[in-house]
Amino acid sequence: MPQKIVSSSHELEFKKFQDWNGDYPTQTLIFHHESSSWWIKVEIDWSLPESILKLGYFKRRSMFHEFVKAIDFGQLDLMEDTVTRINLTLHEQSHKPIPIRNVWNEQTQPNYFLSIADRVSFQIEEDPGRIIYPTLDQAQDLPTIEASHLEDAKVIAPTVSAVRFKQKRFAYKKIDRPIYEPGDAEHILNEINALAQLRGQPNIAQLIGVVISENPYKTRQPTTSTGVITGFLLEYYPEGSLEQVLAENKEQDDSLLRRWALQTGRALEILHTQRRTHLDIKPSNIVFDANKNAILIDISGTGGYEWEWLSPEMQKIIQRNAASTPASMPFDKRVASDCWAYGKLLLTMAKKLSTGGLGKKLQSIGNDLTKADPKARISLSDALERI
Ligand SMILES: Nc1ncnc2c1ncn2[C@@H]1O[C@H](COP(=O)(O)OP(=O)(O)OP(=O)(O)O)[C@@H](O)[C@H]1O
Ligand SMILES: [Mg+2]
Repeated sequence: MPQKIVSSSHELEFKKFQDWNGDYPTQTLIFHHESSSWWIKVEIDWSLPESILKLGYFKRRSMFHEFVKAIDFGQLDLMEDTVTRINLTLHEQSHKPIPIRNVWNEQTQPNYFLSIADRVSFQIEEDPGRIIYPTLDQAQDLPTIEASHLEDAKVIAPTVSAVRFKQKRFAYKKIDRPIYEPGDAEHILNEINALAQLRGQPNIAQLIGVVISENPYKTRQPTTSTGVITGFLLEYYPEGSLEQVLAENKEQDDSLLRRWALQTGRALEILHTQRRTHLDIKPSNIVFDANKNAILIDISGTGGYEWEWLSPEMQKIIQRNAASTPASMPFDKRVASDCWAYGKLLLTMAKKLSTGGLGKKLQSIGNDLTKADPKARISLSDALERI
């Protein structure tokens, strides 16, 4: 006998849906039962038939949702305090098909997934793609802020929200993001370390503290699992990023651009003096405080990078060895790439200036920082003296 049917959906909380060009649908959800909750990721491992691929995204997603709602999660061995991945495989016949609840009333339209459900077998394991939140002891002795105390979140970038805490605005950079890649948690820890090391330094983003919460994947309340780091809080810089300012269709004031060029260069110099490198110098990683001072952000030194902002010699090394990353290079190569990117930044700024004095000057310094031959380039401190 099938188990008593509650409503087919009220106990399921749908989270992220992903697919691959319309194929291989994957749904993350929370299964709530009594006062417990299990995080689950359901994914299929066969390619969908043409007739289903042809349906639009929303139709296909709602069909997959109907199917997921019909799965009887109560009969599966779900794991506690983590994400259980349920991998579905299609067979000619299945001996142990995925348990489906008796959904007799809701089927109005034919559903491809439900129609083959008795041939679908399942495998259960801890989801290898889940976010591995760092534990609290990885936060050194930094101030901590409870995630539940942050209010009024407004998304400003895929990884960053503006939030209110004690009546003030802050920027909250999170580990949880639309596209989480293994390693992102590590990059956030590196960024926290770099920010902690550079506290109090001018023109570098200021760390307020580490954001913590109980395990987001907790199954039972109260939980026995330990607290985790979900991200960090930064001072909020309200005047936008250099990328936004450069995108505005107007010529910029010479004195402001000169100040930003100097402040960014000095911030980079401080990083290098502290034996750190940035490796992602670009206009979106420079923001402005209320007094229009330039502030360098995104300083992990290990996170994402943009190809066209890497020095040509670093690009060559990575082309030859796809497994290498900018962060794995020797310190002097990394410094050289930062300085090259700073030159490119000056050239980008020069384009926004009239052909007058400063425009020409930034152009010439930018050219000298980005010469093809690394030995022919000027140093960062020479560049700063000339601005
Ligand atoms: N402290 C802050 N105050 C105001 N805005 C911020 C702050 N930190 C980040 N932002 C905004 O969020 C954007 C993304 O931030 P950040 O570069 O740290 O994230 P990211 O995911 O590493 O970005 P990417 O990988 O695209 O470089 C910035 O370009 C900026 O617009
Ligand atoms: Mg960035």
